[in-house]
Amino acid sequence: MSGQRVCVSDFEEEARKILPKAVYDYYRSGADGQNTLADNVAAFNRWYLIPRVLRDVSTVDLTVSVLGQKLSMPLCVGATAMQRMAHPAGETATARACKAAGTGMMLSSWATSTIEEVMSAMTVSPGSGGVLWLQLYIYKDRQLTLSLVHRAEKVGYKAIFVTVDTPYLGKRLDDVRNRFKMPPHLSMSNFSTASLAFSEDNYGSDSGLAVYVTNAIEPALSWDDITWLKKHTRLPVIVKGVLNGEDAVQAVNYGVSGILVSNHGARQLDGVPATLDVLEEVVKAVQGRCDVFVDGGVRRGTDVLKALALGAKAIFIGRPVLWGLACQGEEGVIELLELLKDELRLAMALSGCCSVSEVSSSLVRRVGFNSRM
Ligand code: FNR
Ligand code: LAC
Repeated sequence: MSGQRVCVSDFEEEARKILPKAVYDYYRSGADGQNTLADNVAAFNRWYLIPRVLRDVSTVDLTVSVLGQKLSMPLCVGATAMQRMAHPAGETATARACKAAGTGMMLSSWATSTIEEVMSAMTVSPGSGGVLWLQLYIYKDRQLTLSLVHRAEKVGYKAIFVTVDTPYLGKRLDDVRNRFKMPPHLSMSNFSTASLAFSEDNYGSDSGLAVYVTNAIEPALSWDDITWLKKHTRLPVIVKGVLNGEDAVQAVNYGVSGILVSNHGARQLDGVPATLDVLEEVVKAVQGRCDVFVDGGVRRGTDVLKALALGAKAIFIGRPVLWGLACQGEEGVIELLELLKDELRLAMALSGCCSVSEVSSSLVRRVGFNSRM
């Protein structure tokens, strides 16, 4: 029924009807009162676009270079765990869709497909684009952590996005109520034991994932661990989960190649600002010393354009991809990515921008302010 889906929320509505309740709840939820969850989306309405006219927008070039790789657009797929709960082909379908759309995919450490099989799915599928990056959770077991990094390096992943906002899992109320755990036929495929693969039987009365994180993930992470990680990989390291200028400066001082401004899709600490609202602060603090990326609440092409205007080099989406997968697997994700690409192309044309490099801060104005930034 692809003719029926004309915007991202159409995908979500359809996915909600298809997915088991506990899976939909896990994908959709934010932490606690979910104030930040709503605000991530609402923040985009706090910025106006200020278009320019008579600029010959008969062709619009969306291509960008991200971490040294050419992409068809500045919109990429962020890490979301356990994609085979949405569709039997899971992450391999997403990887093929990214190849077809010419964009990048960040694979979760907690994928239900292995690092190697996702790479080979992308490699063998048609299309000329496609880049894979690994999202890394740092385990208490450091050798195990490094084995993920080295497996990714070996098969051709191009960067490591290390998640720094999850010393413990945020409290998602529906996951506690549902005692969320993985369906028994699935596991976190990159791990071989039941305890590491999130496939034990009994996690008590809590969210199973919250118990898993407490057991396995390193809560003592500090900036020195960025140094440790950089020492053990030749790939660029990007920190995922920075929300202010001070931490951004720290990250630059520790030699990261990029910063992903993220509140983890509002799933960790409720009450933090929407990511769009802290993007400017981070961009200013970094002063061009590394790339700045953003995710959270991006649902339209105009959202992507606003984030570019506020200084993001590229933008990541999380949940929309899960909705695309649930609706129609690989085809659903291609359709979703092409929809957002078309929306971005139209938004740029109507704003008078022929290429991503023409998008600047003069394109946006904060609602309530009379002059531009
Ligand atoms: C996530 N996110 C996430 N982040 C991460 O570093 N590792 C992970 O495994 C996951 N898993 C995950 C699962 C689900 C279901 C969601 C919704 C999110 C966070 C993700 O990378 C990203 O920061 C947000 O999803 C961006 O917000 P939107 O686009 O979902 O609003
Ligand atoms: C989440 C983890 C997987 O947000 O990052 O559920």
